[in-house]
Amino acid sequence: MENRKAELIETLLPKDTNSYGNIFGGVIMSIMDKTAGVVCWRYSKKRVVTGCAQRISFHTPINVGEVIYSRATIIHVGRSSMEVEVEIEAENVMDGNKRRAASGLFTMVAMDENWKPTPVPAWQPVTEAEIEKWREVEKRRKG
Ligand SMILES: CC(C)(COP(=O)(O)OP(=O)(O)OC[C@H]1O[C@@H](n2cnc3c(N)ncnc32)[C@H](O)[C@@H]1OP(=O)(O)O)[C@@H](O)C(=O)NCCC(=O)NCCS
Repeated sequence: MENRKAELIETLLPKDTNSYGNIFGGVIMSIMDKTAGVVCWRYSKKRVVTGCAQRISFHTPINVGEVIYSRATIIHVGRSSMEVEVEIEAENVMDGNKRRAASGLFTMVAMDENWKPTPVPAWQPVTEAEIEKWREVEKRRKG
């Protein structure tokens, strides 16, 4: 897999549910955060921390026993930060139904041995879709 992308696959247990029996949102956010961390770790070959999580949306509930695919893509690279788009897909393996369940954006920061932000390898978008996402991040960074 390209080093700008990573996928984690999970299935969750009753201990991960909210009071209504669906998977708790905080558990899903934790999986998203972990996937963002893995992709940035692999990309930068440095230790990374989460600087910011935004635009977290839960599109459909996830049920116990479903398989969760958490897919992360680095969409922007700054000096020490990497912006990661994470998409969660849930699959009911019994009937084959798959659906988009959650999404979010994570800013991960690479840290040196003194826990100071440190540069990461550069990356430039190539396709139209990549350029569009890159520009959106640039706009957000400028505030
Ligand atoms: C995130 C953190 C490293 C930023 O440190 P800082 O001293 O403010 O560093 P800088 O101002 O030099 O910013 C470093 C980079 O992070 C980005 N950044 C910092 N805070 C950010 C935020 N809230 N949102 C988005 N990006 C942020 C900066 O834009 C900069 O990007 P660039 O190098 O690509 O230009 C620091 O606040 C920290 O260690 N936070 C705790 C992290 C943590 O414990 N996370 C949870 C567990 S993993």
